[in-house]
Amino acid sequence: MRVGVLTGGGDCPGLNAVIRAVVRTGVAEHDMEFIGFKDGWRGPLEGDTMVLDVAAVRGILPRGGTILGTSRTNPAAPSNSAGGKSGIERVAENLESLGVDALVAIGGEDTLGVATKLYQAGGKVVGVPKTIDNDLGATDYTFGFDTAVNIAMEAIDRLHTTAESHHRALIVEVMGRNAGWIALHAGMAGGANVILIPERPFDMGQVCDYVEHRFKDRYAPIVVVAEGAHPKAVDEAVGGPQQDEFGHSRFGGVGQLLAAEIEHRTGKEARVAVLGHIQRGGTPTAFDRVLATRFGVQAIRAVADGAFGQMVALRATQIVRVPLAEAIAELKLVPPDRYAEAEVFFG
Ligand code: F6P
Repeated sequence: MRVGVLTGGGDCPGLNAVIRAVVRTGVAEHDMEFIGFKDGWRGPLEGDTMVLDVAAVRGILPRGGTILGTSRTNPAAPSNSAGGKSGIERVAENLESLGVDALVAIGGEDTLGVATKLYQAGGKVVGVPKTIDNDLGATDYTFGFDTAVNIAMEAIDRLHTTAESHHRALIVEVMGRNAGWIALHAGMAGGANVILIPERPFDMGQVCDYVEHRFKDRYAPIVVVAEGAHPKAVDEAVGGPQQDEFGHSRFGGVGQLLAAEIEHRTGKEARVAVLGHIQRGGTPTAFDRVLATRFGVQAIRAVADGAFGQMVALRATQIVRVPLAEAIAELKLVPPDRYAEAEVFFG
């Protein structure tokens, strides 16, 4: 059996661990042969491939990023139709001409959304959930999240000491487009005073009052804000006009907005640290390596069983299979009862 593998969307620590587990298990248990598709869905759309054998995956377990490359190419976008064929049809044709019997697609809601469309068009696809945002509904955790949280937590620990020395407020802007899981977990683990998440638009006046109140206790406050969080007075997150092929805007800047308002309303100095892609780079934590490896092993077993149109998922401690369509149906947002447990100001 010839199996294609691709990684799509934003990269994430643990992708290489999945690729390694897929290839090694497929070769050892099922005598499979692999073909790597470069840069997410661009690979099968353009027939751009690379060698993916046991030698190619040697030594990649601790490496961040993805040896296959990634992109936000969306074959379902009208711009990817050509010669009277949709992008999905072009992908299906290329897979057939390359003799690919099955495809393992590793990605988040967008990549898996395309995998679902390909499956509905007759493609033999198995999905593996990936996102540092941890916002895929069907799985308790995605790999990459734990690494991102640990990086953000360490940054918050470091910012506490310098904030206290200078009697400043420090705003830490973390990733999280629709869901505030990284902000919530890193903020709780790092002992932040304020956590602002996309699920709960905040009142700028209340945030500033709370920051001022913390200063009165001679305490330099730390505010953690997810990039997708926004004040109640504004309907959408702060960002630029750029959109990717899936229609997502590029967010960023809410930290600066907060710092300016805090300085203006409290008269105290406020500085911003934007963690950005530091959260996505570098080596995965042990938790993410183990989860990614378990996902990879179980994904290739699903391929061997012919369980197409399924995604592997973590439910409690078990890896299970869930229909792809169900996996992408709903984002997993931070529920209100989790705010209460955080014991910080939420805006
Ligand atoms: O989807 C994961 C994510 O980390 C989001 O939190 C963020 O908005 C996005 O990726 C940014 O990705 P990039 O800068 O690669 O477009």
